[in-house]
Amino acid sequence: MKTILEIKDLYKSFEEKEVLSNINLKVEEGEFIAIMGQSGSGKSTLLYCISGMDRPTSGNVIFDGEDISKLNDEKISKIRLKQMGFIFQNSYLLKNLSIRDNIILPGFKLGNLSRENVNKNADELMKKTCIDNIAGHDIKKVSGGQLQRAAICRGLINKPDVLFGDEPTGALNSSTSREVLDIINTINKEGTTVIIVTHDVKVAARADKVIFLMDGNINDELSLGKHEEDEEKTLSKEKRLYLWLEKQGF
Ligand SMILES: Nc1ncnc2c1ncn2[C@@H]1O[C@H](COP(=O)(O)OP(=O)(O)OP(=O)(O)O)[C@@H](O)[C@H]1O
Ligand SMILES: [Mg+2]
Repeated sequence: MKTILEIKDLYKSFEEKEVLSNINLKVEEGEFIAIMGQSGSGKSTLLYCISGMDRPTSGNVIFDGEDISKLNDEKISKIRLKQMGFIFQNSYLLKNLSIRDNIILPGFKLGNLSRENVNKNADELMKKTCIDNIAGHDIKKVSGGQLQRAAICRGLINKPDVLFGDEPTGALNSSTSREVLDIINTINKEGTTVIIVTHDVKVAARADKVIFLMDGNINDELSLGKHEEDEEKTLSKEKRLYLWLEKQGF
């Protein structure tokens, strides 16, 4: 197995305040990692530091063999556009564009793929996430779940190695959340590494491994194994996770 991301002795401070300290983590290609922890424990900060959206104060973030913490902004942007996809709690789609145009925009920015290929990827992604019927719709006229599925398509348009998410289902109701999680699990099964921050046990139970952050440190991690479409297995994972989180004081 290939290590796609390695974090070595990562520290992050904002002015005088230390928010992350001594973070060490290895992520193998194809893994699905969930990051949990109390509000303010540093989850988003960690996600931003390991995905090149922010820089660590010290330490190394080795992405696909390259220490991205040492690269200039332009080089980091290129890697992010080409090899990383992002989804957030809010979809951040552009209001004056259709669903389809929002999805293909990062593909055209990259310039590596032909227009034809970008369009083809967009069609495939929209079909997979069941939003192909609303491709031309104004984003103001679709549901929250449809918006989030469009955001996932946008995150995947350049076929990234890693999909990062910060509370990607945080604004969705439970059934829509389940649909979005099914899509994320499918994408992961097809080979994309997934790293998401979540408060939700049902979301974290879909991951292979859960990391618990406490006061900016990795307090513990729990291995769950690959997700299977089996309700009983999922429930038993949720139970294990609940017990483990209790031990963490969550
Ligand atoms: N840009 C910033 N400037 C100063 N302090 C920051 C900044 N971003 C985050 N912090 C501080 O860092 C700490 C960790 O914040 P972070 O957003 O990473 O927590 P979190 O675990 O994601 O919380 P939540 O679950 O509420 O989203 C908090 O104390 C926060 O106030
Ligand atoms: Mg956060």
